[in-house]
Amino acid sequence: MVFLEITFRIRVQLQLYTDLAQAVPLLQPVHPRTIRVRSHNNRFDSENPKHNTIVPYRPFPNIIGFKQSSPPTNSPKMSSTTTAQPTPTQPPIPAVHPTYPDLRSRVALITGIGQVGSPTSTTWGNGAATARLLAHNGVKIFGCDLHLSAAQRTQSRLQAEFPELDIEVMAADVTQTSDVEAFVQAAVAKHGRIDILINNVGMTAPGSPASMREETWNSQIDLNLTSVYRLCHAVLPVMETQASGGSIVNNASITALRYIGKPQIAYAAAKAAVLQFTRATGAMYAHKQIRCNAVVPGLMYTPLVENLANSEKSEDREVAGRIMRHNVPMGWMGTGEDVANAVVWLGSGASRYVTSQTLVVDGGITESTGTGFGM
Ligand SMILES: NC(=O)c1ccc[n+]([C@@H]2O[C@H](COP(=O)([O-])OP(=O)(O)OC[C@H]3O[C@@H](n4cnc5c(N)ncnc54)[C@H](O)[C@@H]3O)[C@@H](O)[C@H]2O)c1
Repeated sequence: MVFLEITFRIRVQLQLYTDLAQAVPLLQPVHPRTIRVRSHNNRFDSENPKHNTIVPYRPFPNIIGFKQSSPPTNSPKMSSTTTAQPTPTQPPIPAVHPTYPDLRSRVALITGIGQVGSPTSTTWGNGAATARLLAHNGVKIFGCDLHLSAAQRTQSRLQAEFPELDIEVMAADVTQTSDVEAFVQAAVAKHGRIDILINNVGMTAPGSPASMREETWNSQIDLNLTSVYRLCHAVLPVMETQASGGSIVNNASITALRYIGKPQIAYAAAKAAVLQFTRATGAMYAHKQIRCNAVVPGLMYTPLVENLANSEKSEDREVAGRIMRHNVPMGWMGTGEDVANAVVWLGSGASRYVTSQTLVVDGGITESTGTGFGM
C-alpha cells in the first residue's frame, strides 16, 4: 500500500506531544515544531494520535565535515507509563560541530579524557566529547585519566576519526599532587605551552549531611574541588608566561545551583565552590589575558546514564528512569556534545571577552519550577 506523506505544522503542545510519544515505543528525533505524520488514510488523526506514525524529521543537514553522530540506538526509551509530563528523549536536532580557526595547533590539557561505562559504548562522555570537538578543530590534545585504558579508548576513537590528530594520554590521578605535576610537566616538555586547560574530572557520591561519612565528604571535596585548584596551581604559571594568556574551563554541574532531588551534599557543595573559584580566578588573572569560566551541565545522556539504563539491576534502571523522566522544559536530555560545544567555545577566541562566567547547559531546567511547561 502506498502511503502519501502529509506534513503538519504542530505547535508545541505538550499534551499532544506526550500522546504522540505514547504512540511509539521509541520517539525518533523530531523537530519540536514540525512533525511529519503518515497515517493509513493519509490524514493526521488528531482524535486518536495512536493511529498515526511519526516520521523522523531532520531540519538541519550535517553542515560540516564531521561524522554525524547518530542518536544512540539504546538511549532513553519512552516509558510505557508516561503521564502528563514529557519524558526526556533523544535530541530533536542533530548536534552541530563548529570550527574555530584560532584553535588550530593550540595545546589543550584535559582531565578525565576517558569515560565510565562499557568500553564498546558509542555514547560520548563530557570529557571525551570535548576532546573530539577539540580534535575536529585541529587542537593538540594532552589528556589524562585515572584509568589509562579509558583514556586510550578515547585516544583510539579520535585517531580513527582524525588520522592527523596530535594526541597523547597518560595515567594521572587528579587527587594526587605529584600526578598532576607530572601531567603538566609532560605536556610542557612536549609542547612548550598550554593554551587551554579543561578541568573535566568530577564524580558524585550519595549522601545527606547526616548520612554522609566524613571520609566520603573529604574525598568528594578533594576530587571535585581541590583537583581544580591543583591543576590551576600547576598550569597558571605556564599560561602567565604566554603573551596570548590562556583559557581555563571548569566543568561544574546544576547541583551547584539547585537541589535536584538526589542527596549528594558534598558533590553539590564542591561544584558550587568550583563556580566561585572560577569567578574569582577569572577576575584575578584577567589582566594577564587568562580567562577562567565554568560550564554547568544539566541532565546529560552520557555513558554513566546509559550504563544505569542498561544495568541488570532494577534499582539502577529505576535511577536511570528517574533521570530520564526529569522535568526538563525542552523535553529531552542533552548529550556530551552539548557540553563540548560550550567548553570549546569558551576555550576559543570566539569568547575572548568572556571571563568569570558560568554557562548553564541544561535545557532550561534550573530556570523552571518544574510545575508544567508550554503556554
Ligand atoms: N554526566 C552528567 O550527566 C553530568 C552532569 C553534570 C555534570 N557533569 C560533570 O561532567 C564531568 C564529566 O562527567 P562525565 O559523566 O561525562 O564523566 P565520566 O564519568 O564518563 O568520565 C570521567 C572520567 O574521569 C575519570 N576520573 C575519575 N576520577 C579521576 C581521578 N581521580 N583522576 C583522573 N581521572 C579521573 C574517570 O576514569 C572517567 O574516565 C564531571 O565533572 C561531572 O561532574 C556530568
